Amino acid sequence: SRSYRIAVVPGDGIGKETVPEGLRVLDAAARRFGFDLTLDHYDWSCETYKKTGRMMPEDGMERLAESDSIFLGAVGWPDVPDHVSLWGLLIPIRRGFDQYISLRPCKLMPGTKTPLANRGPADIDFYVVRENTEGEYSSSGGRMFEGTPREFVSQESVFTRHGVDRVLKYAFELAQTRPRKKVTSATKSNGITFTMPYWDERFAEMAKSYPGITTDQFHIDILCAHFVQHPDWFDVVVGSNLFGDILSDLGPAVAGSIGIAPSANINPEKAHPSMFEPVHGSAPDIAGKFICNPIGQIWSGAMMLEHLGEKEAADAILRCIEKLLAEGGPRTRDLGGQAGTEDVGRALAQAIAAGG
Ligand code: NAD
Ligand code: IPM
Ligand code: MN
Repeated sequence: SRSYRIAVVPGDGIGKETVPEGLRVLDAAARRFGFDLTLDHYDWSCETYKKTGRMMPEDGMERLAESDSIFLGAVGWPDVPDHVSLWGLLIPIRRGFDQYISLRPCKLMPGTKTPLANRGPADIDFYVVRENTEGEYSSSGGRMFEGTPREFVSQESVFTRHGVDRVLKYAFELAQTRPRKKVTSATKSNGITFTMPYWDERFAEMAKSYPGITTDQFHIDILCAHFVQHPDWFDVVVGSNLFGDILSDLGPAVAGSIGIAPSANINPEKAHPSMFEPVHGSAPDIAGKFICNPIGQIWSGAMMLEHLGEKEAADAILRCIEKLLAEGGPRTRDLGGQAGTEDVGRALAQAIAAGG
């Protein structure tokens, strides 16, 4: 039968609570749709770092390379500096496996509340397509004259034609599959005078190859305002690494809760494993209580199944999430409920098993 090997990295904080629920639902889907998942569990985290001085072992990437996909929780904990933990685990995976697309759906689900007045599910349904390997997240730069009055730090943004064109192309191709066929570009060419005009140039060039797609572009500042005031304007929003990061927390917040937002770090050519993780982080403020929302993780699991070719199973998981939210099933506090993390995972696994 069909079989997939999944590397499981719960990471830190609530990642340890959401990942088991994601696996519970994936297991139910595998049984129902007749495929096998072989799991390799890795406890790489800030705890590992404190014990060994590394976030993952030296051969970590080689081990992950043997998997079909990576299922990750969250990385980062207050006792290790974020730039150390994230650049020791999450970012090297995204870059090392050339997962150049970060795909982040933002959707107001029936039965959940948006903080925006007079908005419903028809108004908030778009994708953020984030460039995931270059841009503002570069390792080029440094610090000089440390501790002196002349202290100097710099970090260079790096945009390559190859890197920009491939993410733009992905966004246009995605828009082709959507009813509204629209791509919005996030830019800041009034203030950032080399990289952003270049991005705009490539965007205009790419648009020429897609005459059926409507295009739009906004500077990132007013674009944030439009996310709040006019979420219905957006269909596919494409942005650089940093702008995409910002928009992909704002989008889910506008759609109700960051706790349900999924993400896929994709290498579309399938030359390397892709990685699936919720948009949120390790949430130290609520970790350890099993009150966090596991839906972002579970939905990320559905995106993983779709990437692996198990579309039917992926659709079933999404249907069950929609039904649970629409019909008043168990919900966690971020959605105004009282349920625990495991209650939600169990309810969804049962719904899958029952043929939902
Ligand atoms: P966060 O996403 O962890 O938390 C922000 C807020 O949202 C908190 O109040 C938290 O309680 C709430 N929240 C997040 N997920 C939730 C869920 N599933 N259910 C209910 N509420 C939820 O962001 P942060 O506080 O900026 O970051 C905490 C740590 O996580 C930092 O170390 C940060 O670097 C890291 N981080 C990692 C990732 C990742 O692994 N991809 C993403 C973001 C942040
Ligand atoms: C995300 C996170 C990460 C990012 C951080 C933790 C490095 O915010 O996945 O959105 O900026 O990519
Ligand atoms: Mn983020």
